[in-house]
Amino acid sequence: ALPSEYKDHVRIAVIGGTGIQDLPGFTKVASLDIDTPWGKPSSPITILHHQCSVSGKDVPVAFLSRHGTHHQIAPHEVPNRANIAALRSVGVRTVIAFSAVGSLQEAIKPRDFVVPDQIIDRTKGVRPFTFFEGGVVAHVPFGDPFDENVAKVVRACGHSLEGEGVVLHDRGTLVCMEGPQFSTRAESNMYRSFGGSVINMSALPESKLAREAELAYQMICMSTDYDCWHESTADVTVEMVMGNMKANAVNARRFVGAVLDALALDSNAETVNAKHLEGGVKFGISTPQT
Ligand code: ADE
Repeated sequence: ALPSEYKDHVRIAVIGGTGIQDLPGFTKVASLDIDTPWGKPSSPITILHHQCSVSGKDVPVAFLSRHGTHHQIAPHEVPNRANIAALRSVGVRTVIAFSAVGSLQEAIKPRDFVVPDQIIDRTKGVRPFTFFEGGVVAHVPFGDPFDENVAKVVRACGHSLEGEGVVLHDRGTLVCMEGPQFSTRAESNMYRSFGGSVINMSALPESKLAREAELAYQMICMSTDYDCWHESTADVTVEMVMGNMKANAVNARRFVGAVLDALALDSNAETVNAKHLEGGVKFGISTPQT
């Protein structure tokens, strides 16, 4: 169970993707086995204790491993509704989501980080993608799929680590494909012609469900390969993705630490509490309310 001093204080969550199954270096204070109306999340939600290295303030952080504790859940099998509902149920309002991505642009090199600001949906509709169905109709705005307030904090943190080897691209269009197979070369080139910057299999419906749950959500992408369009590098393989993730783990950890430090500052409390998103769903429901 969640120790009483943490109840109603967990506002920030980190969702770890491929290569980030846990967050070493943080003290674990609880592991919550949560059940939701949409089933169980990908992994227990661990509550970690983070001490802000700037203010000294103690901040609890929820951590969820998207592909399971042992990377046993394929992208199309991730229980996204349970994940988002479970995080929301412990009080989370802001989600920092990590993802390994393929690069669709020469300038985004393997091991670079990207803070995407747009998404192109290339999933195939096989993943449950909304909380609203069975009699409740809602349409939430999604023109900007990520939270710009959180993005600003994340970008500043990434740039503060430039001297330590973090290369950050401030914006980008993320193509989210169905998978689990990688793209064909023709598809990869089509995504480039769409203006895609990077490609993954995990941004959707996670980000849509976060919006429906009124959570501030920002993905941090870590480039691991040039997919299969690049003429002078080998086509993407799992080995390539894992190898670059592993090589970049220290930077990813530094990046998370810096983001959590920044989000713990009082000056960012409003961003973290996602006050600006409150009521978004209430006004999006088009079913007559009695
Ligand atoms: N994740 C990491 N690399 C990828 C790629 N090339 N395509 C889709 N998802 C990825």
